[in-house]
Amino acid sequence: MANSLPVLSIGKHTPKYPLIQGGMGVRISGPNLAGAVAGAGGIGTIASVGLAVGSDAFDGRNYFEVNQVVLKENVERAKKISGGGVIAVNVMVALTDYGLHIRGACEGGVDIIISGAGLPLRLPELTKNFPDVALVPIVSSTKAANLIVRRWEKLYGRLPDAFVVETPLYAGGHLGVTRMEQVTDEALSLETVIPELVRYIEDEVRADIPVIGAGGIWGRSDMEKVFALGARGVQMGTRFAATVEGDASIGFKQALIDATESDVVIIKSPVGIPGRALRSPFVQRYLDGTAESKPCFANCLSHCSYRTDKQAFCIAQALVDAYRGNWEDGLFFCGSNVGRIEKMETVEEIFGEMFG
Ligand SMILES: Cc1cc2nc3c(=O)[nH]c(=O)nc-3n(C[C@H](O)[C@H](O)[C@H](O)COP(=O)(O)O)c2cc1C
Repeated sequence: MANSLPVLSIGKHTPKYPLIQGGMGVRISGPNLAGAVAGAGGIGTIASVGLAVGSDAFDGRNYFEVNQVVLKENVERAKKISGGGVIAVNVMVALTDYGLHIRGACEGGVDIIISGAGLPLRLPELTKNFPDVALVPIVSSTKAANLIVRRWEKLYGRLPDAFVVETPLYAGGHLGVTRMEQVTDEALSLETVIPELVRYIEDEVRADIPVIGAGGIWGRSDMEKVFALGARGVQMGTRFAATVEGDASIGFKQALIDATESDVVIIKSPVGIPGRALRSPFVQRYLDGTAESKPCFANCLSHCSYRTDKQAFCIAQALVDAYRGNWEDGLFFCGSNVGRIEKMETVEEIFGEMFG
């Protein structure tokens, strides 16, 4: 059955199946999940953000240094678990210590860096000593892809090794748009953007750059629809978040299992962009304007309305609470298909169902 699927080659890396498990922070996709996915024949992705929080070396002041060390260790661990599979690290451009995350990932031996939540315009410069590391921007429009292509060609003489197109219509976590009304903009659907981006790459860039679709993909038929649009891979987040191998606590996974479609809301995150999450008691208090935030502990974001203006809340604290399963105080990111999760599945079960 795998023969009828597209072959997804990203730089020097060709996984058995054209499926990426999307990076999910804070610590929802760590080395266990990424290693299991890569071992099953997909691309497993570690989210680089907030890893210091679970480390004994973190003393409240050394967040940046510890995060870099833990990321490196996590990549090494995921590689080992996967038995030589393809491991990626997801690094958000919006992070204060973006360069340190990239370096930690590269030093750990990562195969691919996937980077969004902003345009990764400096990524080639930050990885210049690691030429085998493939670079994959996440975009939500062809316009964003064009900006990256022009800048990378002009300044660094290189092109992205693939693009992930993530649609704000269904994806989990931060959505790659700035205004709330763009979350429902059909012009940013996979049906519109994938064929447009594939044409742009063929006609204007004239290069072989695979496009990967993300947002709302659950099973084999969703995947085939995305391939029919011209994509050569898919990226899935939410379904993997509640797997047995997922790195989050049981409490986090149970919250996703218990959720229905009507529990999903869009909030304006302190980063300044919309995000999709569950209506937990904390999120409800935030929407009502009565949420109290725990203090900022890491200066983790280059733009944070909580740190600068005491607006919104400390997102790192709220995501760590969710990771620990604290339903009352946590921010539980999820995609719009979270209502379909009925139980904890294994990674192997998901791959079996998707690839036969
Ligand atoms: C809990 C959670 C956390 C996420 N964290 C990140 C992140 O740190 N960086 C990122 O680029 N995308 C993040 N995402 C997006 C996923 O990587 C993925 O692209 C997206 O969820 C795909 O849509 P789906 O959930 O409908 O499959 C997150 C998604 C979820 C559900």
